[in-house]
This record gives sequence, structure tokens and C-alpha cells, in this order.
Amino acid sequence: MILANDSTSANSTLLKQVSIVGAGAIGQLIYHQLSTAVSASKIAVNVISRAEHSQLQPLTFTSLDNTESTQTAEFVGLNDYAQQLPKTDLLIVCVKAYQVCAALKTIIPMLSAECHILLLHNGMGPHLDVAQMLNGQSLSLGTTSQAALKQSLWHTKQTGKGVTQLGILQLPKHFKALESSSQQKSSAQKTLPESLKNILLTAIPQSQWSEDILTMLWQKLAINVAINPLTAIHNCQNGQLAHEQYSDTIIAAVTELVKVANAEHISLELPSVLNRVYQVITLTADNYSSMHQDVQHQRTTEIDSINGFVVQMAKLHGIATPQNQHLVDEIKCLELQYHR
Ligand code: PAF
Repeated sequence: MILANDSTSANSTLLKQVSIVGAGAIGQLIYHQLSTAVSASKIAVNVISRAEHSQLQPLTFTSLDNTESTQTAEFVGLNDYAQQLPKTDLLIVCVKAYQVCAALKTIIPMLSAECHILLLHNGMGPHLDVAQMLNGQSLSLGTTSQAALKQSLWHTKQTGKGVTQLGILQLPKHFKALESSSQQKSSAQKTLPESLKNILLTAIPQSQWSEDILTMLWQKLAINVAINPLTAIHNCQNGQLAHEQYSDTIIAAVTELVKVANAEHISLELPSVLNRVYQVITLTADNYSSMHQDVQHQRTTEIDSINGFVVQMAKLHGIATPQNQHLVDEIKCLELQYHR
């Protein structure tokens, strides 16, 4: 069930500290949305940096209507982690999926047990590792269709609006054993305080709270499984994938994903998922997918948390996923050409 954004419900008046990990395009977009939409008396927003010393960093943001604004963000350096992190009420993690665990390894031990962590990245997988690293903290996951591009290191431009879905992680029964023991003890309190939920839903346009975030993430994963590797391999825009020559691959990859999701007790139905994949291909016809851009810029791709996640989960259930494995292999081959 998705609850609509309700900014009228009771808000706590206490100042909350929100910390953002990852100052990429999405991290800077969320920083801007939080610090402009929510009154400064309700939240203090900072960015957790990997530099040694804390510093004030001006961040410039260009909105969809081309309005430019600059805000000075507090970047918390390693020297100040011990002082700042215990005060964080909500930690929003915006790094790439393959960077999540390394980033949180030093951060989680310094957070209070009451802190809430929100993972906001493309693809799936890190939540299974993060669930084992928690020290009493609660965990939410999110997916956003908002788009942003960096104009320079500290200047981000929003390039598309879109829905953001957020929700508390409810691990399926067979993963419960993965949770750390302190996590299992505190499972009764695993909710996001209303005040924090309201801050997120107020700040992020078109954001929705979902009681079943894993299903939302699997649905998004189906889109990425079909579009991302094919656009990277064939060096094309999303719209090209509507051509007949790609349909066998798309149908095979998405069919495998639906089988794996169903084995995970996620109720997806192939016809409606395929329908959505083709809708997104049409709606984003002129876009270059994030994986296409990663390959063009010779960056590590998110293949392990997209098609690779389907292959990994399939193994747990004894399901064959040759098409997804083939797409993983092809992308790894492309990466090898520049990651020698
Ligand atoms: O990763 C991406 O690029 C996007 O999630 C999507 C929906 C495939 C559009 O380009």
C-alpha cells in the first residue's frame, strides 16, 4: 500500500540532524531539497565527507526551471565523525550500490542505536549486507526516478522529475537469520519516527511511503535489468530497445527476474512487468541510461546490483538465469577493456 504525501500530520518541533553520505548528483539533489523545503528550525543537514577535516562547501543547484541557487553545506570530516555521527537522526546513503558497504563500515559503529538509515541507490543487494552490520539502527530503502546531472564537482542540475518511493525494509523470513543479533532484539521498534518520515515526504517532491518497498524495488529492478545493460552494450538510447531485434533478450531477462522475485515471495506478474518495461523505454526514449553513461565514461557499472543481483538470488533458489548471466558477462567484458 502506498500512502500519499501528508504534510498535515503532526510534526515534531525538535531539531533533527540529517546526514547525507555521497555528494554525487542524487546526494546533492536531496541535500538541496531537504535544506530548502524543510524549515531550518526542524532540521540541520550535513554531508559526511571522506576528507580528514570538516569544511564549509558551497553547493550550487540548478532547478528544472533553470533557477540557480547556492547554499553552504557543512561537510563533516573524519576528525569530527565521533562528535557528529552520534547526533544524526537520519542517515541518507546516496553512494553507488557497490560503495555502500565500504562507506557504512566506518560510519555505522559511530551512529546511535536510534538512528535511521535510508539507502537510496540504483539496483538491489547492499541491504542484505547492511542488515548484518546494524547496531540497533533501523533501515529503509528507497528508489527515485528523479534525475540529476553534475555540471561540475559542486554544481548539480536537476534534469528530470519523477516519483520517489521509500519504505522500511521488512526482510523475508529466510533472511531473518542475516540480521545482526542486536537488530533482532530491537525488531519491535523498527519504524521510522513520524517526524522524520514527514521531513522526507515534505522535502522530496512526488515522494510516497510504501509499506512494501521490496516489491517496488523488484519492479524498478526489472526496468534496469532490461534497459541498462542493453543500452550500454549496443551504445544506444533507451528508445532503440523498442526494436524487434531486442525483444527476445528483454523478454528472457525479465522472465528470469519474475521467477526469482516470485521465489522470494514478491508477487510480480510477467505481462504487467513487461508492459511497464516497454512503457519506460518509450517514456525515456531520448535518454542514455545510467549504465550507458558509466561505460561511455569508463566508470565501474552497477551491473552486480542489477542483473548480477538476479543471478545471485536465483542461485539461492536453484533457478537458472542464463540470460542475466550473459548480460553480466558482456558488461564485465566491456569494463575490462578500460579497467585493466
Ligand atoms: O538507470 C537508469 O538510467 C534509469 O533507471 C532508467 C529508468 C533505465 C532510465 O534511463
